[in-house]
Amino acid sequence: MLSQKMQEALNAQINAEYYSSYLYLSMSAWCQEANLKGCAHWFLIQSQEEMGHVLKLFNYVVDRKGRVRLGAIEAPPGQWQSPLAVFEAAAAHEQHVTELINKLVQVAVGENDFATHTLLEWFITEQVEEEATVDAIVQQLKLADGAPAALFLIDRELGSRTLAASGGQSEN
Ligand code: FEO
Repeated sequence: MLSQKMQEALNAQINAEYYSSYLYLSMSAWCQEANLKGCAHWFLIQSQEEMGHVLKLFNYVVDRKGRVRLGAIEAPPGQWQSPLAVFEAAAAHEQHVTELINKLVQVAVGENDFATHTLLEWFITEQVEEEATVDAIVQQLKLADGAPAALFLIDRELGSRTLAASGGQSEN
């Protein structure tokens, strides 16, 4: 059985992961409007990955005989100034999610909930990967410095991303 505190914290994280999916879908739409088809595809895959995170938490709460309580999902922003700005926003968001996961771990430790702690180890590893992946794209875009030819190549590369079967780490 999950403690009430742990259950509420996991439900809050389900909402946060849903928001992440929603945010990346919005970023994908912005990239489509900016004619960055590869970036749009990359964010679409990212959005799908976040839904994988939602389901991982959802299934875990159900398995532990907890109660899933779904709340309203905040509307994400829909406008960014540049390809660099949209990926910088994604990087900042992943850093925020890492903080949320760390706080969840603190709750699990405080509740002596070793099973949840084990589940969260997967998320800790995932956050390291996600932060590194988005930061690498930010660095590439900084090097490109808005040059159309470089942007074209980065966009083409990001268009090759594939969704991992686990809903976790994907290629690129
Ligand atoms: Fe589910 Fe990108 O963190």
